Formats: sequence, structure tokens, C-alpha cells
Amino acid sequence: MSKPWVTINCAMSLDGKIALPSRRQTRISCEEDLKRVHKLRNDSDAIVVGIGTVLMDDPKLLVKEKYISSPSQPLRIILDSNLRIPRNAQVLKPGAPTLIVTTCKEDRYEHITIIRCGPPNKRVNLHQLIEYLGDRGIKKIMVEGGETVIWEFLRNNLVDELLVFIAPMIIGGVTSPTLAGDTGAATLESVIHMRIQRIEKLEDGLLIQCKPQRKNSVNGSLPAQKNL
Ligand SMILES: NC(=O)c1ccc[n+]([C@@H]2O[C@H](COP(=O)([O-])OP(=O)(O)OC[C@H]3O[C@@H](n4cnc5c(N)ncnc54)[C@H](OP(=O)(O)O)[C@@H]3O)[C@@H](O)[C@H]2O)c1
Repeated sequence: MSKPWVTINCAMSLDGKIALPSRRQTRISCEEDLKRVHKLRNDSDAIVVGIGTVLMDDPKLLVKEKYISSPSQPLRIILDSNLRIPRNAQVLKPGAPTLIVTTCKEDRYEHITIIRCGPPNKRVNLHQLIEYLGDRGIKKIMVEGGETVIWEFLRNNLVDELLVFIAPMIIGGVTSPTLAGDTGAATLESVIHMRIQRIEKLEDGLLIQCKPQRKNSVNGSLPAQKNL
């Protein structure tokens, strides 16, 4: 199998926050950015979010006809190790196919496609999931969050590009989720270095496209930085 292309897409404030201190969703993207996000969804074979985002935001994860005429809806994938997804979640409603990925042994739901990736009592094994999706012809994956999922994709070296829209606003608050959360890097060596490839102004905000810099497998050094 060839590994699917993985794009992380996220919108954050100038201070790196992706939601309010209550963790509730807030509008961060401008209209031009929303149009770009819906085009990216439309061009993807699958969208991935974690159960934290489903419980907090209850997103539909559909391509809106307001932005794309005759949309092609990607597969909606939810990482949900303990099968916590509510039966009335928007992502389980018609509009696009949905796949729940778990490590839980139980079968609590009927009429929902569930696969198991990884041993029970652990989080979903992302390498196994990517291999499963690649074997089924999925070529382009868009990861939409939240902070735990983004960090885990980066930490597992599965990301090909990161697209981050930065809005000219400050959200503040120590409890506000950030672009990458969870444990974060424990040491300087495990910090994830990125190479910026493009910066574009979208209305009053900035879109930054970057990719992780892979370390030299022999001496662990980073490749030399080039100027933009
Ligand atoms: N601004 C934006 O672009 C944007 C986009 C999306 C979300 N958000 C915000 O992000 C916040 C939610 O972030 P979050 O960190 O709480 O939730 P999350 O990243 O959406 O989901 C994390 C949960 O997914 C499950 N999971 C299963 N396998 C995993 C794996 N391999 N790696 C990581 N997670 C895995 C875990 O729960 P289990 O162990 O129970 O399975 C984990 O706690 C909300 O405030 C939301 O509004 C912002």
C-alpha cells in the first residue's frame, strides 16, 4: 500500500488557541478561510477527528453546498477508543459515510461501521489505521483536530503537511486548547520542527502551509533551513 497523504488543517488565534477556555468552539476562520476548508474537505477522501471534538462541538463534517456546488462528501472518521460517541451525534446522521475507529471490545451500536485498531484500553493505533485506509484506496486524509489528535499525528510522524489559519484575535486562558496538546514534547529532542513553505494573507488573517522536518535517521540532525 502507498501511505495516504495526511494534511492537518486547523484555525487558531494569534496566541495559538483553537477554542475558548471552556473548550467550546468559537468562530476563528474568516469567510475566505471557510471556503478553503470546504474545498480541502471536498478534495479529501476522508476527514479525521477525535471524540473530544465530537463531544464538544458536535460537528457534521460535511462539505457545504454554500461553498462547493455538487460537493463530494468524504468519509467521516472518528477516533473513539472507548465508544463514547452519542447515538444522536451529527456525524452519525446521513449526508456522508462515517467510520468509528475504536479499541473497545464491546459492540454497543447497530447500523454504524466500527473497526478496531489496536489493543483494548489503549488509544487507536494510528499507524494501523493509516495502513487500513491505504489498503482500501484512501489517498488523501484531512485531520481536523482537536489538539490531542493533532499532537498524536505529529508525534507519530504521520503528517505530510500542516495548514494553519491564524486569525487576528487573542483568546487567552490556560485551559484553552492549543494547536497541539496532550503531553507535548518532553525534551528538546522530541520537539517537532517544521519548515514553512507558504504564507498567504486571507482577509485579515494568515494561512501558513508547512511540513514537518524529518530527522536524519543516522545522526538525528535536521536538514539545513532554506530561505522562503
Ligand atoms: N479551531 C479548530 O480548527 C478546531 C478543530 C477541531 C477541534 N477544535 C477544538 O479542539 C477541542 C477538542 O480537542 P481534544 O483534544 O479535547 O479532543 P480531540 O483531539 O478531538 O479528541 C481526543 C480524543 O480522541 C480519542 N483518541 C482515540 N485514539 C486517539 C489517538 N490515537 N490519538 C489521539 N486521540 C485519540 C481519545 O479519547 P478516548 O481515549 O476516549 O478515545 C482522545 O482523548 C475542542 O475545544 C474543539 O472545539 C478546534
